[in-house]
Amino acid sequence: MDNITFSVNGKPVKASAAEADLPLVDFLQEDLGLTGTKFCCGIGVCRACTVSVRRQPGAPPEPMIACSTPLSSLQGVEISTIESVANHDTLHPLQQAFLTHFSFQCGYCTSGFLMAAMTLWDRLVDNPINKQDLDEVVHNTLKDHICRCTGYIRYYEAVKAAILNQPGMTK
Ligand code: FES
Ligand code: FES
Repeated sequence: MDNITFSVNGKPVKASAAEADLPLVDFLQEDLGLTGTKFCCGIGVCRACTVSVRRQPGAPPEPMIACSTPLSSLQGVEISTIESVANHDTLHPLQQAFLTHFSFQCGYCTSGFLMAAMTLWDRLVDNPINKQDLDEVVHNTLKDHICRCTGYIRYYEAVKAAILNQPGMTK
């Protein structure tokens, strides 16, 4: 196999064929120094390690579990991690909403919740939804994430509030 090339937060990256079986979370943390994506269960259950991926340019973003995704499956994709979400010192509206709603306690699950919510946010930019569908859409986006500090309701409320406050995302 040749080198594996893809992008992380808009920058092209390359992994050697010898790293084909390496989980993405290890590559992010150890090769790129991006430690915001968290390793927790390691078996695809908790979703603390969620990042956002576009399978090809212009494709809708999808959540992806970085602990269980080998680099060999990432040829040509575009990955976004939590490090790409804030604009320098300005938090993204979702990040600000997590703070305003006291969504997290220890924060270990936060990166995963945020990146799942970001995939929803990025989809709604082009495809607003009906307000009455928002509860269900947010529930479906976050329902598989585990928070050991039981912040579920506050995460859900934060995401809903941020989307409702953003012009053009609901109708
Ligand atoms: S650490 Fe990846 S799903 Fe739990
Ligand atoms: S805030 Fe601690 S695990 Fe969610």
